Amino acid sequence: MPESLSDLIEARYRDPQSSTFPLPRDPFPDALTTILAHKSCRAFLPTPLPTGTLEALITAAQSASTSSLFQTWDAIAIQEPEHKSAIATLAGDQEFIRQAPLFLVFCPNLRRLTNLVKQYKPEEDAKALEGMDMFVMSTIDAALAAQNAAIAAEALGLGVCYAGALRNNADQVCKLLNLPPLTWGVFGMAIGYPDLEDRRSGRQVKPRLPMPEVLHMERWSETGQEGNVADYDRALGEFYVDEGKAGRIGWGEFVAGKVVPWEQDGRERIRGVIEGQGFKLK
Ligand SMILES: Cc1cc2nc3c(=O)[nH]c(=O)nc-3n(C[C@H](O)[C@H](O)[C@H](O)COP(=O)(O)O)c2cc1C
Repeated sequence: MPESLSDLIEARYRDPQSSTFPLPRDPFPDALTTILAHKSCRAFLPTPLPTGTLEALITAAQSASTSSLFQTWDAIAIQEPEHKSAIATLAGDQEFIRQAPLFLVFCPNLRRLTNLVKQYKPEEDAKALEGMDMFVMSTIDAALAAQNAAIAAEALGLGVCYAGALRNNADQVCKLLNLPPLTWGVFGMAIGYPDLEDRRSGRQVKPRLPMPEVLHMERWSETGQEGNVADYDRALGEFYVDEGKAGRIGWGEFVAGKVVPWEQDGRERIRGVIEGQGFKLK
């Protein structure tokens, strides 16, 4: 269990040298500790969340920056067991979604702005809302809000796991949640108390690519990708051995294999679903 800042950084890269990074150390804010200690949780206790938790998480989500103060996202809180089970089925039949007391679906939303154009500019069309940039903006807003909620949940001692798999059946998710035109469910998040007896609650932080692979100084450069990925294959391999999952193929080969087929559990249909929800993507 990492305890100090150096431990947390070393665990994130599985590279002893990384613990010497010149990060600010004193004072070291709790928020940074929470962020560096993140690990997805896929095993939850049935313990209900304390009253006010949902509101605290949504306040955190709404505290995120938002493009032009547009606030182009909504969250749908799913807590009823049957409803949760239905969405779990659509989201890759993932059991942790049924287990978690709370499942939030994050929905980019351009409908609110469309309604406001009708109200305040009834003679005009909301032309900019048909653009690709507004679609991207609403996706960014939803993601920033969700990540704030995730950090808040982890700061409260809860575990979280995103569920992008609901895009496998994005059209059915829209129907199940009554999502009107110009909204859609981009991902969900399961939230609850981690079942620490179960390995899937996430015992160790999962290492990330070596920092030089993603951090470029002043200009982008591809130098070093091969070596960085080889280092990462080793680091992640060690992580999986510790997790009792020895013998996995390396990360590079794994992700390459994932993106070869066009079919992606239904997600290859996503553009049609988004257009079907009225987004123009111009
Ligand atoms: C948008 C998004 C969607 C995700 N969807 C799923 C999912 O459907 N099922 C799952 O088990 N994990 C899902 N994850 C979790 C990732 O697999 C996880 O974050 C990644 O492996 C890194 O592990 P860590 O979060 O423990 O550091 C998702 C993460 C993100 C950001």
